Amino acid sequence: MIIINCNNITKSYTAALSGTKTQKALVEFDLRVERGEVFGIVGPNGAGKSTILKILMGFVRPDHGTAMIDGQKVGDLNVRRRIGYLPENPCLYRNLSVTDHLVFAARTAGMSKKQTRKRIDEILQTVNLAHAAKLPIRTFSKGMTQRAALAYALFLEPEILILDEPMSGLDPLGRHLVVEIIRQYKTSGTTIVFCSHILADVEHICTRIGIMNKGVMAAVTTPEELVGADQGEHVGVSRLESFFLNTLSAVSN
Ligand SMILES: Nc1ncnc2c1ncn2[C@@H]1O[C@H](COP(=O)(O)OP(=O)(O)OP(=O)(O)O)[C@@H](O)[C@H]1O
Ligand SMILES: [Mg+2]
Repeated sequence: MIIINCNNITKSYTAALSGTKTQKALVEFDLRVERGEVFGIVGPNGAGKSTILKILMGFVRPDHGTAMIDGQKVGDLNVRRRIGYLPENPCLYRNLSVTDHLVFAARTAGMSKKQTRKRIDEILQTVNLAHAAKLPIRTFSKGMTQRAALAYALFLEPEILILDEPMSGLDPLGRHLVVEIIRQYKTSGTTIVFCSHILADVEHICTRIGIMNKGVMAAVTTPEELVGADQGEHVGVSRLESFFLNTLSAVSN
């Protein structure tokens, strides 16, 4: 059953000073994701990946087209509270701790104090930040901040996860941890849409993979299809990497 349904979305940003429209970030863009899928989006810088994820959150409005989640318009509060979101550049309060942030999330959801304590302990264990539970965010490294923001996205056990480069800035251990977390949520039936530049991770955890380029979905594949795909001239790279390179060279010809 389709849970995320984007139809014919076009989006141009307006330049702040001149007011003129910039190059289109999305062009007649379609995306359909089934409940329980892990859909990975890859593509060059500026392809429009973050833009489509922000549209799914209702933070950016398309010029044309529709974006629906479970039959409701994106941005609707009833939909929003079912989603956990990790932004591309997480903004946490520098002088507050990760625990303070999670208490805030718990209060907005009306969670009891006992349940809040339990869930905070659990999620900080999951993202390996239990040792830094009370430290202000300003003392965190980039990777720690990223894991704190991920804890915030996962905290209320959302049905849908929208993650903008969840492995960015993480060391190999942190990356492995996040891959395992995504796998765990996949097993529990969470619908996950994320983008990443780390193709090896995408290939390992997704049920489907979309290659975006210049605001369009240039190709969609599955890990199973990649096994039999012709790698062409690309030697010594992963299957997804060679599919990615082949797709981009086909669309730029
Ligand atoms: N707020 C904005 N104002 C103007 N242009 C923007 C804005 N946000 C994005 N763009 C433009 O829209 C296009 C798509 O940007 P987007 O951030 O969606 O790309 P992306 O695929 O996420 O790239 P990256 O891999 O670098 O994160 C780019 O050309 C970018 O310059
Ligand atoms: Mg981006």
